[in-house]
Amino acid sequence: MYRKIILLVCVMISLQAPAQQPVIDTKRDAFISSLMQKMTLDEKIGQLNLLTGGEATTGSVVSAGVEAKIKNGQVGGIFSMSTPARIRKAQEIAVTQTRLKIPVIFGMDVIHGYKTMFPIPLGLSCTWDMQLIERAARIAATEASADGLNWAYSPMVDIARDPRWGRISEGSGEDPYLGSQIAKAMVKGYQGDDLSKNNTLMACVKHFALYGAAEAGRDYNTTDMSRVRMYNEYLPPYKAAVDAGAGSVMTSFNEIDGIPATASKWLLTDLLRKQWGFKGLVVTDYTAINEMIDHGMGNLQQVSALALKAGVDMDMVGEGFLTTLKRSLQQGKVTQKQIDDACRRVLEAKYMLGLFDDPYRYCNEERAATAIYTKANRQEARAIAAESFVLLKNDNNTLPIKKSGTIALIGPLANNKSNMPGTWSVSADFSKPVSVLEGLREAVGNNAKVVYAKGSNLTEDSLLEQRATMFGKSLGRDSRSDEALLQEALDIAAQSDVIVAALGEAAEMSGESASRTDIGIPDVQRKLLETLLATGKPVILVLFAGRPMTLVWEQQHVHAILDVWFPGSEAGSSIADVLFGDVNPSGKLTATFPQNVGQIPIYYNHKNTGRPLPEGQWFQKFRSNYLDVSNDPLYPFGYGLSYTSFSYSDITLSSASLRPGQKINASVTVTNTGTRAGKETVQLYLRDMVGSITRPVKELKGFRKIELKPGESKTVLFTISVEDLKFYNSDLKYVAEPGDFKVFIGSNSRDVREADFKLL
Ligand code: BGC
Repeated sequence: MYRKIILLVCVMISLQAPAQQPVIDTKRDAFISSLMQKMTLDEKIGQLNLLTGGEATTGSVVSAGVEAKIKNGQVGGIFSMSTPARIRKAQEIAVTQTRLKIPVIFGMDVIHGYKTMFPIPLGLSCTWDMQLIERAARIAATEASADGLNWAYSPMVDIARDPRWGRISEGSGEDPYLGSQIAKAMVKGYQGDDLSKNNTLMACVKHFALYGAAEAGRDYNTTDMSRVRMYNEYLPPYKAAVDAGAGSVMTSFNEIDGIPATASKWLLTDLLRKQWGFKGLVVTDYTAINEMIDHGMGNLQQVSALALKAGVDMDMVGEGFLTTLKRSLQQGKVTQKQIDDACRRVLEAKYMLGLFDDPYRYCNEERAATAIYTKANRQEARAIAAESFVLLKNDNNTLPIKKSGTIALIGPLANNKSNMPGTWSVSADFSKPVSVLEGLREAVGNNAKVVYAKGSNLTEDSLLEQRATMFGKSLGRDSRSDEALLQEALDIAAQSDVIVAALGEAAEMSGESASRTDIGIPDVQRKLLETLLATGKPVILVLFAGRPMTLVWEQQHVHAILDVWFPGSEAGSSIADVLFGDVNPSGKLTATFPQNVGQIPIYYNHKNTGRPLPEGQWFQKFRSNYLDVSNDPLYPFGYGLSYTSFSYSDITLSSASLRPGQKINASVTVTNTGTRAGKETVQLYLRDMVGSITRPVKELKGFRKIELKPGESKTVLFTISVEDLKFYNSDLKYVAEPGDFKVFIGSNSRDVREADFKLL
């Protein structure tokens, strides 16, 4: 029996939505004012200094003499230090051995989990499920705060359209609307409704701003773009996170309009504080002040002064503030007010975290022993990971496979634990994740046999493998020859009914300073895949990836492809859940997969140009296209298959015109036409046909994830208001312009139904 349910979709946030209300807390302000009256200049500057806990975990700096500096009042915050015992010890020095007993704030790169690891953020975004994403951040906060921490350097909301850039793995892909929803969900998850609770973390939105637009996808490289593009396409997720109440913002390494973000007064003061009303703390990225020397902005004293004047409050590990600000004040290069404002904001953050009431509120050994890496958290991680997988191909229902017969599991990522959490998993215990081999064997029990061979190393290039397997995430390079590894794989494959090939990237082939110019599967693994296919047995590619990859050959030849990104702690179990059909995959891509590197940047919400290529064509002379490859992506934004199939009705519009203040309802009926229950993310896109500036060919403005039983239908209803039609015009005014619009609804950015309406 068909059942119809009406679902509503909310309107999007605009960059000019009412700015954050100033938080007026007279008690806090009086407390901080009275504290600051007692502080010396040195003590104030000390609060602006953020150091590491004495180890170089996320960069190359080892902060020296940390305990002595705390004692001298020269430390405002510490990061990459954990456990209640260590944090208590450092905090004790701050609150018992310094003159004013000001507590220290403790940060960490809690990016996609703390000990219980969730999928890398790019994978997590493919769930299109805001509740799950919020939940993952909530669990991460519960665990990290139980281990003494109170500040997470997340969410990373940089829009990225270049899969060569390794850090595309850390964000939510290419779309500003989806990115904004995810930014909000994560801030909510970390901060909860009260920062002073001992199970919340202060969020830190990063990297402000435009870091994802690094030229040529090379990390830390220059960015340059028009304000119109910035406002419409890159800034919305940062703004959404600020509006959601994020307590802090991290500057980015790149320059904007020729000025490094860390020295940009326009960015950090005019836009962030004045236009957006941000009241929180601005921290630099790792040595971002010092790096301005190489950018060519002056010596350490000059660049430190520039950063303070631009609106930076805290200096991450570079100690430029600590060592030069006093001199700059004496020489009139910075003002006392600038130092006071920065110091006040650091103290406000500590106040809101409740550290002045109880500096040890996050140091509870009992919680640390019971709240971290729990069975319940791991179960949630397993379920969330399975939701993030994207089924890219499934010829003749190759998947799901049966829990019977003999399954050959082959590949360099098949029997590995340390790579399963992916990049930015600084707090994970790499001995714990469930490998694919363990997951599959556990799932089949005695009903089937899982045989294993490594098949190949990660790459034929041992030096590249070394660079791609850092931070203890080894793939255990095998010293046997490529031929010997291949032969072993063939022997194993010969015994099997079906082959599961666990291939792709190692965890550290994406992430920071891990850009690639060739984003295919390394040759030696491709060779393995070719050899396995030559057996004539069904081959399923379980693809590990921190980015969109070029997979044209794989798409043509392999029977099924499941992109699992890096799934986290429960990797093997969640992969087994999907391979055996206990969970029907429902992930949808949030970044376009190119056919080849030459197409980059390629993204769905591009402009039309004056010479667009008619749809469905490959090449026409004097049109915007390539001689040697079509304009089509390999897989478009929003794409992802299921073990069932869905059909879409035409769009019904409640009216053909819209007046300001009114709304139009756009609905479609989606039917599960297959034989399994499944989830589908229904996507709504709009196009403004004529504008005062050129407008994208499509923009995501709504989505809804629904679940349908076999044969079941649901009507999904989106409400479109004038708010959804707004954009920044060439005066950077946020406007909706009367005229013709198209609405598209479908299962990905290309496979859509369309209808027209007018804004009157
Ligand atoms: C990264 C940041 C990170 C910081 C602290 C930097 O290198 O760019 O994302 O939060 O290090 O580890």
